[in-house]
Amino acid sequence: MYSSPFKSIVVLFSGGEFVRSRKANSKRLPRGAAALTAARFSASTTIEEEEEKEEQMKDLKFDQKGIVSDAGVYKTKEEKMFLQNAIQLKGGKNALILGIETSCDDTACAIVTKSGFVVSEAIKSQVSIHENWGGVVPTLAKEAHQNAIDDVVEECLRKAGVTDIGKQVSAVAVTVGPGLSMCLRVGVRKAQKISGEYGIPIVPVHHMEAHCLVARVKEEEWNSSREEEEEEENGVAKFPFVALLVSGGHNVLLKVEGVGRYTILGQTLDDAIGEAYDKTARLLGLPVGGGGGPALEKLAKEYEEIVLEPRREQARKEIEQEAHITDEVFEKIVRKKVKNPIRFTVPLRKRKTCDFSFAGLKTNVRLAIEKYLGAVVDESKPEQKVLPSENWDGIENRETRAAIAHAFQTAAVTHLEDRVSRALEWVESDGVSPTCLVVAGGVASNQKIRKSLLQIGSNHSIDVVFPKPSWCTDNGVMVAWAGIERLNLALGVEKPVPRNSEAVRKDEKDRDVQVRLKPRWPLGEMDERAIGEVKSSKVSKMARPLGSSG
Ligand code: KG4
Ligand code: ZN
Repeated sequence: MYSSPFKSIVVLFSGGEFVRSRKANSKRLPRGAAALTAARFSASTTIEEEEEKEEQMKDLKFDQKGIVSDAGVYKTKEEKMFLQNAIQLKGGKNALILGIETSCDDTACAIVTKSGFVVSEAIKSQVSIHENWGGVVPTLAKEAHQNAIDDVVEECLRKAGVTDIGKQVSAVAVTVGPGLSMCLRVGVRKAQKISGEYGIPIVPVHHMEAHCLVARVKEEEWNSSREEEEEEENGVAKFPFVALLVSGGHNVLLKVEGVGRYTILGQTLDDAIGEAYDKTARLLGLPVGGGGGPALEKLAKEYEEIVLEPRREQARKEIEQEAHITDEVFEKIVRKKVKNPIRFTVPLRKRKTCDFSFAGLKTNVRLAIEKYLGAVVDESKPEQKVLPSENWDGIENRETRAAIAHAFQTAAVTHLEDRVSRALEWVESDGVSPTCLVVAGGVASNQKIRKSLLQIGSNHSIDVVFPKPSWCTDNGVMVAWAGIERLNLALGVEKPVPRNSEAVRKDEKDRDVQVRLKPRWPLGEMDERAIGEVKSSKVSKMARPLGSSG
């Protein structure tokens, strides 16, 4: 199984009322099968469900065809040389690559030079569209991508001063999976159009691969005098490394040995951590616009600073530090004495794997809210409406809510620490020395998580690389860069779509366009120590792992 790049998917009755929210990255069924099963059990199948089902079936057909365009990939030595020469002629290290991302709820685009200089970026977020639905609504997402894609690409080209794509741009990289098929299709169709009209190659990109590889962007100067062979730079991830992707939709640990060489060490068995932050924030009545993580982090910090720290200060005065006790030990004694009275069990402690689980933690939060705050949680609502108790906002209740937020974060962070430590141990025991730990995804901006992962890195004597926040969340730069890494090795690069092909001629409304999408696409094989978690029936309808297809 893979971690899908999207959060909860919302299915609607055509009247607009919620009937269910299901998780795209659920372990129980592959996404297509989940949609089909869901549709079967639903008394009244919605138009949206039907459309998604249709898309799934179509994708399976396209997967079997296995082509993006009629032209095929650059395969032979001569073809690969031709590709490299063409890029050389268009500027060598200054050659421009366009990246397009539409797999979930961001329409993003970027132009990056082959050496890693980011020339331009543009993004149109759909946060405000899905905010009120408690998840991403596929049809609304598709529509928003369709409305935005031309403008976003146009803006990028304009900012980069590109007036003639055919002469100035060397290739177009596009996310082909995993993701929502009807959304992926919008980006792929745009890429095909550009490829066909201007005769430039397409680089199909795996969304998660892009998240990992963006940690290798050199943020090069324009027209830098540095030779391409000079590979060593600071702050840039070098192979092999371990990557932790943590966002609203992803929760996966990877061994990354090179471009296209990924092993899944562990992944979430239920919710992704960002999703758990969002749901917990919602339960605690915090603002969740654009994700509840930051608000929850703030409340947990409030508990640490306003409640725990003054009590610890008091305890430091009360407990006398004996001469033979070091400061470190003394601090431990103080912290043991002053604790958050609410504590949640750290997930999966008994399972010695690198998998994650956040569903149980979420349940614990709900139970704590009911027990300590007397609030009622209506689980039938996908957005988990809380009916607050009396004086919900009163000082005492505020402290209890902060204590719950703090307890949640403590357990979640410890869970991450456990799994990342084990992943590093696994990789090291394989005889591979990771150069660094890459942490990407929206949740990577959490200060508590950053601090604790920096400590884990230090325990293992490796650097921890956090790509800058705008490149941690979905963006165009990561796609363009993954495209560049693949172009450098001529890995799976598709020849330009023939000018007269259907893919270029057919208009936007025509759904029968020839594209190869991979909505369900594992990034690599599972590590054998993790393989026990996956049942073969769950992977039968998925595309082959990226690693095995090169
Ligand atoms: O990568 P991202 O922007 O989007 C996808 O999920 O694809 O990640 C968004 C997620 C949300 O769940 C949000 O609540 C979480 O990242 N997040 C955080 C923080 N900032 C964003 N979670 C915890 N602490 C944060 N400071
Ligand atoms: Zn993503």
